[in-house]
Amino acid sequence: MTNLTCLFFLVIIKFTDRVLWLFSTPLAPTSSANAIMVKVVTCTAPVNIAVIKYWGKRNAALILPTNDSLSVTLSQDILHSKTTIAASPDFSHDRLWLNGKEEDITKNKRMHNCFRETRALRKQLEDSSAEPLEPLSTYPVHVCSENNFPTAAGLASSASGLAALVFTLARLFDLPTSTSDLSRIARQGSGSACRSLFGGFVAWEMGSRDDGADSLAVQVAPETHWPELQALICVVDDAKKGTSSTEGMQNTVATSPLLQHRIRDVVPERMRDMKKAILDRDFQTFAEITMRDSNQFHAVCLDTFPPIFYLNDVSRAIIRLIHEYNATSPDGRLKAAYTYDAGPNAVIYAPKQNMKEIIHLITRYFPGADFVDPYNFFPEGEVVGSNLPHTHDKFNQNVIPVFPAGSVSRLLHTEVADGPRVLGKEESLLNEQGLPLRLK
Ligand code: DP6
Repeated sequence: MTNLTCLFFLVIIKFTDRVLWLFSTPLAPTSSANAIMVKVVTCTAPVNIAVIKYWGKRNAALILPTNDSLSVTLSQDILHSKTTIAASPDFSHDRLWLNGKEEDITKNKRMHNCFRETRALRKQLEDSSAEPLEPLSTYPVHVCSENNFPTAAGLASSASGLAALVFTLARLFDLPTSTSDLSRIARQGSGSACRSLFGGFVAWEMGSRDDGADSLAVQVAPETHWPELQALICVVDDAKKGTSSTEGMQNTVATSPLLQHRIRDVVPERMRDMKKAILDRDFQTFAEITMRDSNQFHAVCLDTFPPIFYLNDVSRAIIRLIHEYNATSPDGRLKAAYTYDAGPNAVIYAPKQNMKEIIHLITRYFPGADFVDPYNFFPEGEVVGSNLPHTHDKFNQNVIPVFPAGSVSRLLHTEVADGPRVLGKEESLLNEQGLPLRLK
């Protein structure tokens, strides 16, 4: 057999399924109603909550930040974005369904960045492979994605959503790309998404190159490093936020002198100290930097002209409550740290042993929040919110008033956990025709 004949048979064997289908189908179907999906992959990606905040871009098109940032990846069992992607030559164009609704992605530059970059890597793979590969880089894709929490409520949905998109595309295309290299692509979808590709404690190094090649995420420590650290998310407002992070941070870059001080004189030292605190499992330093950095981020928002307000009365009351709780700690050591992103929801980081007390405390002042107890901290019969901290003799009970029921609508108790996961076929969000199983 000549080499050419060998190659021909190899192609036939490789694509037996498709070839059989081609011979058995008189006309190739043109609509997704009869589409043959060549490959389908489903993955989840986690939310990350920064303890040193990213706020400001030096290049908005490439999403290159003005400072390094550092975050903690939270458990996908509690919060995640789930994405199924199918590729088929029979699909007419790339389509996206987000939380049960089709979105128009024709003008969505950020998604196109992720498609373009991952397809380019797949194309390289196809061109360099000794054996012929399915030309997936040329096939349109159907993307179906769901969050198990409200979108754009300041709960980092863009981070988990874009991380899920890029991770799933990488699996669909069988890319051998390293996680840090993938994070460079996710960054071009949404800055904070680059940190959701890793579990544990993750730094986004801003880099210095104009093309962004060195602006990527690296893992500072894995999720197993500090298992005592947990988080409590206090959902203050489920509604979509007023000023998006993207728009807000551009206004800050353009108008805030305080941001320049933060970039130059504050963040570099904080990054060094925070990395050390994490490696040493030093909650005192971790907590102080976390609270100070959240406060400075919101100060920078106030320094923006016109100012941006993300915190509301409930957010500020939680800040006071946590400071009072810390001030009355018996050994003077910090017991909890709050942080707020571009919205009013509080995220409280604390060692596991303090969490029960903190849940009681928050529920006492903010009654009526939905709370599922994922780690079984509360035995049956124990009323959440019934106990004040052990330090209650010093604790000023009037530090804040008791708020109307529902001011905090939900409490999500979670922990430090792993990066994106690949799920089985049974978890697919798309049916056999490549269309969503659930529509709104
Ligand atoms: C306050 O990543 O949502 O949560 O890059 O424009 O998509 P874009 O912004 P995004 O900003 C997140 C800002 C933050 C802080 C952080 O997560 O570091």
